[in-house]
Amino acid sequence: MNFQFDQIIERRNTGAMKWDVNENELPMWVADMDFQTAPEITESMVDRARQGVFGYTLVTDEWYGAYQTWWKKRHQFEIRKEWLVFCTGVVPAVSSIVRKITTVGENVVVMTPVYNIFFNSISNNGRNVLENPLKYDGNEYQIDFTDLQEKLADAQTTLLIICNPHNPVGKIWDRETLKRIGDLCVKYHVTVLSDEIHCDITEPGSDYTPFASVSENCQNNSITCVSPTKAFNLAGIQTAAVIVPDDNLRNKVVRGLNTDEVAEPNVFAAMAPASAFGCGGNWLDALREYLWENRRYAEAYMEKEIRGVSAVSGRATYLLWIDCRSVIGDSSELCRFIRCHSGLYLSDGNEYRNGKGFLRMNLACPRQQVTDGLKRLKDSVAAYESWVCSQC
Ligand SMILES: Cc1ncc(COP(=O)(O)O)c(C=O)c1O
Repeated sequence: MNFQFDQIIERRNTGAMKWDVNENELPMWVADMDFQTAPEITESMVDRARQGVFGYTLVTDEWYGAYQTWWKKRHQFEIRKEWLVFCTGVVPAVSSIVRKITTVGENVVVMTPVYNIFFNSISNNGRNVLENPLKYDGNEYQIDFTDLQEKLADAQTTLLIICNPHNPVGKIWDRETLKRIGDLCVKYHVTVLSDEIHCDITEPGSDYTPFASVSENCQNNSITCVSPTKAFNLAGIQTAAVIVPDDNLRNKVVRGLNTDEVAEPNVFAAMAPASAFGCGGNWLDALREYLWENRRYAEAYMEKEIRGVSAVSGRATYLLWIDCRSVIGDSSELCRFIRCHSGLYLSDGNEYRNGKGFLRMNLACPRQQVTDGLKRLKDSVAAYESWVCSQC
């Protein structure tokens, strides 16, 4: 089937956070997509809406089955029904888990640059963000295990949050790396929270490895957050699942989610996973092809057309991590300058910490928008360098 990923969907004045921008601006920042979701998902929601009653809603057997079947088929991981817990989103789950599993003043380790909202979930709850900076060799990001071990060994460290695959650098962590993390965390009595929300947006032909599937250590000492919302563009529906294989740990997590009142679905949150995982497979595979064409196009354009700017090669997420360290000047200023000069709205690498000199560009949009964004980037970088030089 042919899907319409080239179609421009007007999102201005619809309450879309991403598109709450000026008329001339092109938003390529927050991680949602400018595509319509799979037609089958919309149809099932419209059908449900037609019934016209929107009362309190249960988590049904279909909800559990949808996650179990998808992970078994797509990611070769058998999730037991009792391991799964509904939550209204990954961020609500992360914040709740931080509150339940750690106490005020303890350390939560994160690998930076990383999804910036983790910092809020940790700091807003009075815990300390302990950074394990990833190392970049100009080609790939790697974990600094000496540093990680030191941070995990700190007696005040009780939780590690990993992003698997990793936003914003687009890295899929391999089995061996995950196993090493899992063993270290067991050794130092640190629980692992694996945020796997981006797991279905991988380069066609490659898959990710669920952390809990790697070993007994990984399974018994982990909490995993997953959701169809990134892959199927359903973030506004607010639905996620938390996978906790260990009974004691799960009991704590369930208590936390319930206390925080984030454990009950709205009508659409309850049904969306079954529609997405049950009927959206072909659409998702076509989407991944389209996204990787966007990525290849952007990489080639930057290499050929924009001096001093290059794309970090990523095998997951629709977020392009752009190395601007050779551009003369300061990258936060560059990010602001790009928006003022051309209307292109990107994310500043500094937001993710350990991301100085980098920008993040969301490529989940029709090719025409990608082309427009890259032209704006090219013009802006040239204008910025001239401006910086004229100040010297
Ligand atoms: C790594 C990661 N986790 C969580 C979220 C948001 O999750 P939710 O919308 O379910 O709260 C995002 C959104 O970009 C993300 O990148």
